[in-house]
Amino acid sequence: MGDLFWNKVAGVIIGGLLLVMVIREIGGILFPTPPAGELAYPVDADLLAGSGAPVAVETGPVDYGLLLANASASAGERIARRCVACHTFNQGGSSLQGPNLWNVIGRAAASYEGFNFSAGMRNYGAVWGFQNLDEYLENPRAYVPGTAMAFAGIRNQSDRMDLIAYMRQQADNPAPLPDPLPEEEDEASAENGEAVENGEAAENGTAETGDEAEAEEDEAGEDADDDDGATEEAEDETEDNGEEE
Ligand code: HEC
Repeated sequence: MGDLFWNKVAGVIIGGLLLVMVIREIGGILFPTPPAGELAYPVDADLLAGSGAPVAVETGPVDYGLLLANASASAGERIARRCVACHTFNQGGSSLQGPNLWNVIGRAAASYEGFNFSAGMRNYGAVWGFQNLDEYLENPRAYVPGTAMAFAGIRNQSDRMDLIAYMRQQADNPAPLPDPLPEEEDEASAENGEAVENGEAAENGTAETGDEAEAEEDEAGEDADDDDGATEEAEDETEDNGEEE
C-alpha cells in the first residue's frame, strides 16, 4: 500500500458520486418531469375545507305538512331547553337575551315590542312561518346574516320539526298546519279506495295510483252532476292509458 492508496480510494468514491449527479442532471434535461396535472385521487375541496355544511339530501320541496303532522310537541318541549337561556315561550314571559316567543309563528320578525333587535333581523323583516323558522333554526347566522342570536343551530331536521310543533302550540291560536304535498294525498286516496278491479279502469292496470283513483271516481261519478269536470279529465287519461297498451 503506497502513501497515495487512500487518496485514490477517496478519488474513486468522489468521482463516482460526481458521475451519478451528472447522469441525473442529464436525465432531467433529456426527460423533463411533466408538470403535476390532475390528482390521480381527486380530493373533494369542500371536505378539505371542513366547512361542515350539511349535505342536502332532500330533492324537491320539504313537505312541512307531513313532517309537522308526524312531529312531537312534547319532544319539542325538551329541545326547547336549548333556547330557554335566552328565550321564554310562555304567554307574557319576559324577554331575556332574546325576545319572548309566545305567538312567534305568524309574527313579523323583529316586531316584538320593546326588544332591541339587531339590524340584521330588522332588515330580514319577514313573517315567521314554518319554513323560514325551520331554516333559521337550522343555521341562524347563515339564514339571517347579522342576527344577534348567538346560537349554532339545530342540524337534525326531526328535532327542528318537534321544536316547531311545540312552538306552534305556544300561541293564542296555533297556526294551522300546512297541507301535506299533493302526492301524499293521492296515495292516501288511492289507499282508501277499493282496488280497481272491474270495469274499464281495471284495463289500465299500468296506470299510476293517482290515475287509478281518478278513473275510479269517474266510474262512480258518471251520472253525478256535482262532478266538476274531473270526469272528462279522467276519461282522457283513461284513453291515453289505453293507447299505451
Ligand atoms: C344565546 C342566546 C340565544 C339562544 C340560545 C337562542 N336564541 Fe333565539 N334569539 C336570541 C336573540 C338575541 C335574538 C334576537 C336576534 C336579533 O335581533 O338578531 C333571537 C331571536 C330569535 C327569534 C326571532 C324572534 C323575532 O321576534 O323575530 C326566534 C324565532 C328565535 N330566536 C328562536 C330561538 C329558538 C327556537 C332557540 C332554541 C333552539 C333559540 N332562539 C335560542 C338569542 C338566543
